[in-house]
Amino acid sequence: MATFSNDFLWGGDISATQIEGGWDEGGKSPVETDYMVGVTHETPFRYGFYRNPDGSEGTMQLYSGKLPKGAQMIIKEGYDYPNHKASDFYHHYKEDLALLAEMGFTALNLTMSWARIFPGGISQGINSEGVEYYRSVLSECKRLGMEPIVTLYKYDMPFFYVSEWGGWSNRRLIEEYVEFARVCLTEFKGLSHHWITFNELNILKLTMDTLPDVTAEDRQRFFEEAHNQLVASARVVRLAHAIDPDNLVGCMCAGLFGYGYTCDPNDQLKMQKYMQDAMFYYGDVMVRGAYPRFARRVWEENGVSLNVSAEDAADLMAGRVDFLPFSYYSSTCLTTHEIDASLVSGNASFSGVKNPYLASTPWGWEIDPVGFKIALHVLSDRYYDTPLLVVENGMGTLDRLEDDGSVHDPYRIEYLREHIRNMREAVKEGVNLIGYTMWSCIDLISAGTGEMRKRYGFIYVDAADDGSPQGSYKRYRKDSFHWYKGVCESNGEALAQAAP
Ligand code: BG6
Repeated sequence: MATFSNDFLWGGDISATQIEGGWDEGGKSPVETDYMVGVTHETPFRYGFYRNPDGSEGTMQLYSGKLPKGAQMIIKEGYDYPNHKASDFYHHYKEDLALLAEMGFTALNLTMSWARIFPGGISQGINSEGVEYYRSVLSECKRLGMEPIVTLYKYDMPFFYVSEWGGWSNRRLIEEYVEFARVCLTEFKGLSHHWITFNELNILKLTMDTLPDVTAEDRQRFFEEAHNQLVASARVVRLAHAIDPDNLVGCMCAGLFGYGYTCDPNDQLKMQKYMQDAMFYYGDVMVRGAYPRFARRVWEENGVSLNVSAEDAADLMAGRVDFLPFSYYSSTCLTTHEIDASLVSGNASFSGVKNPYLASTPWGWEIDPVGFKIALHVLSDRYYDTPLLVVENGMGTLDRLEDDGSVHDPYRIEYLREHIRNMREAVKEGVNLIGYTMWSCIDLISAGTGEMRKRYGFIYVDAADDGSPQGSYKRYRKDSFHWYKGVCESNGEALAQAAP
């Protein structure tokens, strides 16, 4: 008997800032990553340069929101800005979408750049060139038989919202976002029935944990930002239903899962608390429409006071999601014990203790397909009636383009095969899952470092590994391309076929 339903969505993910390029074309205004130079995984935090009114310069770390008053971000001579050209999807999208359709994709999760649609905010009006660009992308997906899963927000709002408005802690951003969403939902009505309001909304917790020098003020700001995003998301869920009752709307969580390092109950308790803080605090609001009871503890421990007005509470309850999309790359181990420095995980994104049972990628991301199955069950147990959608699961690593244009990537096939195998078992065991989209189906710029060499795709993009804008930008099918085609075409049954 087939495991996956006939309408199960098989596909991949891409995101505007990481793949499109065309950063100053088509009327688009700059977004935060446009100001960020590339780094490597040894220096994990991306940063950009700013100039103060007195002419002095400084650097701001990506997503820290710490731009001094009056300072302006600048593009500095002599540095590469990897997101400016990215994979040049802006000019290659027809060719790229045709390749994805050739693989048998039935879905593509892509993100809209807010800065293409409303480059100057509501007051400056809609940029019709941006609307037409996305209309063309979405129509092409439809023509090729792929359902676009449209993620409305993935860190790509016009940058003046950060520099002049103070970012998401400013309540006025809720209205701006809702209006941006209204335009997308109206203009692209019928071109998609799957919408995701925010990408990895819970990543704010990770950002808070990994940024150095987080002050009490920063914590207060981060929690307000998350709250405002949750309210904005809930309002858009309702709006999407009003615009088209066939719309299904989700809000996405970054999959932050793991284990207590030892069977010391204190390690297990620490992990349980981590899950509450990193996942359920957000997921409960999205799915159940209210903060969980443990939220009080979270606020207290972070020294935060949050004003959840009656109107916000009503919005959250009325805007519960139809499905819960989540990403899964790796797992983490936490302990209350002193550990040797050599056991500390080298991965800034999933920091913790190295898991001795798992191999890892050259970037230190541990490979844990069984953890994926556990994650599916954890979310299914907690949010039983709400279907899950896996958006983003994949392996970023080095690939080599051979002289004959082939790319042999058995490691990626192995990673995906084991994850999909575990996912299949979870579905057989009762998990309610509507689709799987793999990150990232085409090579693109790493979010964490700005490198191109941390390649995830089924499709190789011939662009310089360090993210500088050099190369032919030609596309090549990797071995995993052919393998995944077999997976899509067999509705997830053919996993063991040999690579070509
Ligand atoms: C996900 C993000 O959390 O991680 C993606 O949504 C990102 O945008 C992915 O690319 C992998 O991270 P990185 O740093 O390897 O690009």
